[in-house]
Amino acid sequence: MTSENPNILKSNYNVEEIRRDFPIFEQQIYGKPLTFLDSGASAQKPRQVIDRLSDYYSNEYANIHRGVYYLSQVGTQKYEEVRGQLKTFINAADDKEIIFVRGATEAINLVAQTWGRQNLGQGDEVILSRMEHHSNIVPWQMIREEKEFVIQVAPIDDRGNFLFEEYEKLLSERTKLVAITHISNSLGTITPIKQIIRAAHKVGALVLVDGCQAVPHTRVDVRDLGADFYVFSGHKMYGPTGVGVLYGRKELLEAMPPYQGGGDMIRSVTFEKTVYNDLPHKFEAGTPHIAGGIGLGAAIDYMEDVGFEAIEDHEEKLLAYAKERLAEVKGFHLVGQADHMAGILSFTMENAHPHDIGTILDQEGIAIRAGHHCAQPVMDFFDVPAMARASLGLYNTYEDIDRLVAGLEKVNRIFG
Ligand code: ALA
Repeated sequence: MTSENPNILKSNYNVEEIRRDFPIFEQQIYGKPLTFLDSGASAQKPRQVIDRLSDYYSNEYANIHRGVYYLSQVGTQKYEEVRGQLKTFINAADDKEIIFVRGATEAINLVAQTWGRQNLGQGDEVILSRMEHHSNIVPWQMIREEKEFVIQVAPIDDRGNFLFEEYEKLLSERTKLVAITHISNSLGTITPIKQIIRAAHKVGALVLVDGCQAVPHTRVDVRDLGADFYVFSGHKMYGPTGVGVLYGRKELLEAMPPYQGGGDMIRSVTFEKTVYNDLPHKFEAGTPHIAGGIGLGAAIDYMEDVGFEAIEDHEEKLLAYAKERLAEVKGFHLVGQADHMAGILSFTMENAHPHDIGTILDQEGIAIRAGHHCAQPVMDFFDVPAMARASLGLYNTYEDIDRLVAGLEKVNRIFG
């Protein structure tokens, strides 16, 4: 951080102390300090999570839900404790509403293939927004091929604002589901999710929320939001890869058929008939990512220790600083400029392709994302093949933004 910045003096947030928790920042990239601005794709891991994983594999490992011996029983208990922790984390009503999955992508596929297959058909409509990630588009298209419902797209404006009134016009008794992001990964837009859910419920539709970008930045309360399904991934919230959560209201999950068959999701099996297990195990076939679940628990502890208000406050200040500084860069165009946005800055530059921007910044030790951000319909909307994106995490500093600005000035020097 640059100590001249007045915001720093007002904040108690000790970002340097936080950075010391993240071993990745101990290294240099091409002899330069690592400026990591791609947390939207995947966040770095604090020592507390890494150590927990190592300790688990070194001292506690065994399969769970199956063994009568000590390690298995203690492991089962710890894994299930994380389920309880997740329940509290998002304020679900019951542990059974927390389904461990590989990540948000699997969670959405699960709902599409089970609830979707059971509840959608000809004459029905599913509303998505223009700024959905591919993982909240393609699973619905896949089940549409079989069930022949209609997908409607709620529009955005050219600043990336969600157009609530246009969305309301799409709602009707035909709408069975609204599947929508809480915070857009490509534009940073924070959608008015509570109002979106309330409006959908008025016509009897359910709402699935993609919370991947929201959970690392803000406190989420699924019951306050009124979400029917809420999905997120562990790796974007400073936890391990390969683990995530499907939250669903219990009565919905109970009525849904299982997703995958295998061990753990059954009560009894004969060649004639299988009786499925109760929630949450009905949806958790096979040996789960046990260490991932345990590590996710450590990630939640970490974020709670830092504190959500502090994280949000820090990231908001950084975002404001970034917007101000980046506006000084010649030819810089911030694509997402919604009235309410999180620390995700997608941009283009007049003279350089996003991939060239990414490559030049990389040489300066700056990691950003360049490409279509898994949201090609957003690229089509803004009529660009790709964008560059800087996304913030709880460890970013004002200095990171200064380095990004200097890197972009170098891009300008190279491309004129
Ligand atoms: N969904 C991830 C991103 O936004 C990969 O970059």
